[in-house]
Amino acid sequence: MRNRVEWRDATVAEVRQIADDVRYIAFAVDGVVPRFDPGSHSNFRVEINGQPANRTYTIIPAPSGQIAVAVKLHPQSRGGSRFMWALEHGAAVRLTLPENRFELSWRAPHYLLLAGGIGITPIYGMARALMARGASLRVVYAARSRGLMAFAEDLQDLLGGQLVLRDNSIGEHVDLAAEFAALPPDAECYLCGPIGMLEAAKAAWADAGRPISRLRYEVFGDSGLFAEKPFVVDVLNRDISVPVRSDQTLLEALIGAGVEMIYDCQRGECGLCAVKVLEKEAEIDHRDVFFSPEEKAENHRMCACVSRLSEGRAVIDIGYRA
Ligand code: FES
Repeated sequence: MRNRVEWRDATVAEVRQIADDVRYIAFAVDGVVPRFDPGSHSNFRVEINGQPANRTYTIIPAPSGQIAVAVKLHPQSRGGSRFMWALEHGAAVRLTLPENRFELSWRAPHYLLLAGGIGITPIYGMARALMARGASLRVVYAARSRGLMAFAEDLQDLLGGQLVLRDNSIGEHVDLAAEFAALPPDAECYLCGPIGMLEAAKAAWADAGRPISRLRYEVFGDSGLFAEKPFVVDVLNRDISVPVRSDQTLLEALIGAGVEMIYDCQRGECGLCAVKVLEKEAEIDHRDVFFSPEEKAENHRMCACVSRLSEGRAVIDIGYRA
């Protein structure tokens, strides 16, 4: 289960638009804020449809005593990004001190940092930290358009020729095979982006004959293959049907219906929330990084915190572990 999680009171100290769909929000935190590494994240207590919920955001470099995040307003938002975007200067929030599950090794002879869209948030902090240490690195940052690239100017000033921007709207894409082929033998790659980018990178990394331990990654849990639609699950042995709205996760819907669930990360990483799928009328949109591609193809289990049914109905078993 989770390590020690320390909740604190904080107030919004600064709000700034840093891309067409991204806002920088800095929080002045009560008490001492310990030093944190790039890639760390904090949980925020938000309110969605009048109900309390937690949302996790990567922490970016901030002035002393503050915690800052960069929040993308998701068109398909389940409510978390809408809540964060509604915050104004002086607003009171609850947040946790940063934890890190996407750590730099600090020992590689060269680093390739890959970012897709809002996946720039941990990569931005990593790039700054590595440059400060004089590390050898290259950053490749892709997005659907130039206007959506938060931190692009900062990174250009910091990295110069070590930064490559790829604007999909003018046909630019990341050539993963070429990037990996150009790396020295013991290089490490850190990637944060949508799940499609991660799957492509994993395949290209394996094709390049590189050890999987040197590819480290994080994905956003809302980056699926299908748009969010409502669906229904019938829970085996509970005799209940649980509707899942398009703006909530399966895990939230099950808990809301009084089903006791085991879970931890709520990011598709730990697998604790996995449910068994016995029957389904539609595709499962696997959005986790816990199951292997083979396990996802079998469609026997899904992580309730991030994955969902594309539509229709499924029968699930939540008690299969016992
Ligand atoms: S709670 Fe960790 S994968 Fe769902």
